Amino acid sequence: MNASGAVAAAVVPAAGRGERLGPGAPKALRELGGVPLLVHAVRALARSRAVGLVVVAAPADGVAEVVALLDSHGLDDKDIRVVAGGATRQESVRLGLAAIPEEVGIVLVHDAARPLVPVEVVDAVAAAVRAGAGAVVPAVPLADTVKRVEPNPGHPEPVVDTPERATLRAVQTPQGFDRATLVEVHAKALAEEAAGGADVPPVTDDAGLVERYGGTVVVVPGHEEAFKVTRPLDLVLAEAVLARRRAADAY
Ligand code: CTP
Ligand code: MG
Repeated sequence: MNASGAVAAAVVPAAGRGERLGPGAPKALRELGGVPLLVHAVRALARSRAVGLVVVAAPADGVAEVVALLDSHGLDDKDIRVVAGGATRQESVRLGLAAIPEEVGIVLVHDAARPLVPVEVVDAVAAAVRAGAGAVVPAVPLADTVKRVEPNPGHPEPVVDTPERATLRAVQTPQGFDRATLVEVHAKALAEEAAGGADVPPVTDDAGLVERYGGTVVVVPGHEEAFKVTRPLDLVLAEAVLARRRAADAY
């Protein structure tokens, strides 16, 4: 691996169960066009010349299975490593980060659940970090209007306010970071949790940790095909996108 210079490493959190997708295998191992989501996601990253190493955080009881799976899809390159993930996405990312060699200065974090991210998005995020940004997220404008509510499941929920839609973005991955920045905020979050910070709200992305500790995050254009496979309908959409790509260029 060429881990030096401007080449980035990517961490792929893939240890989730995929509860919102419904019963079945862990989400990263569910198939899209006959190929596991994780394999699509790793290939999408490996396609970028900016990425020199991919570290997959697999379900803790499925490391050997994931190694075999990547091998069987021709991803047995030395530049792909598999570690055991954790109980939360945040922990999985932290464990993946720990497996990246010291000299790598740029880290991308990409959800296994975003199998169809175009390589242009990967390249653009890496380029923005290389150009000096400490934290970069790809994002797209929202189609729906968003309301903040007082959550009260099972009952009508009072609306608190309506943020102006034009100022909102739906954030995707890969998110890109200066490695030292990302390692530092993950360590801080871990220390805060260990100190009993039960009132610390969970973050759902890594850039959120950078924001929490006062860092600056910038947005670059994402892509509608970088959507996250979360619910069953997302899998239907992903199959359609993949079929369109395969028809267009023997993908
Ligand atoms: N993830 C992880 N480790 C966890 C939880 C999530 O590595 N303990 C990963 C998932 O595998 C996924 C990404 O984080 O690639 C985004 O999370 P999400 O879409 O929420 O996936 P799941 O947690 O698997 O799904 P759900 O929340 O519906 O159970
Ligand atoms: Mg989840």
